[in-house]
Amino acid sequence: MRNSGKEIKIIVKNLTICYNDEGPDQSPVIIFIHGFPFNRSMWHFQTEALKENYRVIAYDIRGFGNSDTGDEDFSIELFVYDLLNLMDALKIGKAMLCGLSMGGYIALNAIVRFPERFSALILCDTHCIADSPEAKETRLKNIENIREKGIEKYAGDTLKKLFAEESFTTNTKGIAAVEEMILKTKIQSLYLTLHGLSERKETCSRLSEITVPVLILVGKEDIITPPDAARFMHGKIKQSVLHIIDRAGHVSNIENPGEFNTQLIRFVSSVSSAV
Ligand code: MLT
Repeated sequence: MRNSGKEIKIIVKNLTICYNDEGPDQSPVIIFIHGFPFNRSMWHFQTEALKENYRVIAYDIRGFGNSDTGDEDFSIELFVYDLLNLMDALKIGKAMLCGLSMGGYIALNAIVRFPERFSALILCDTHCIADSPEAKETRLKNIENIREKGIEKYAGDTLKKLFAEESFTTNTKGIAAVEEMILKTKIQSLYLTLHGLSERKETCSRLSEITVPVLILVGKEDIITPPDAARFMHGKIKQSVLHIIDRAGHVSNIENPGEFNTQLIRFVSSVSSAV
């Protein structure tokens, strides 16, 4: 029987994964994958907007939130393996997948390898490229900086890049929530993920293989995965729709949840009614 609610723990292949599972039993399933270094709580506004008509699952990636870290080195492939194992454990054959940034890397990697498991994709503030040599170096420097200067300094520096300029005056609650997520992340998970992200493979060369409907959302002022990266994916994915979110940077779902949710709801209802 389905176990629904918030903060549910399940042991999947020896790893404890924490997730929320809300909404009616027989409704279409949408799985949310958070970015780095956040946790499932980043999808609060989207869960509230969808849970009346959809089964909404938001889980903590291993090492984040209340999920266990396990013993392996982190990689996007390992995160995909966890996602598929979670779906199997919850007896979900097929789902819509929504990922932001690192969550988008996981979603893209998952759909090109296991296309039969997903009916639609929502890619938010993400891109399909691998790290450049400079980006890899920055990841390693970040690891050193966290070791030397601590997580508070890392959180402060990261926040400056995540949000659109105006969010710092208009959305102090959102900023405080994201800061809390960063500060709560285990240091070991930061190291393991920074390393894993630096080693990730590109998925740009596989985009033309995606045949399900795809919604691409990006904050107009996203400087980490900018609108041009979203336009590139839109150009390569046949059945894709692109929407650029106003008054938002890299965490567009938190910075402008109204516009984000309008697009999200329109897309998932068109996909669900077409099935
Ligand atoms: C994220 O928000 O998940 C990160 O910006 C991804 C990354 O560092 O590549």
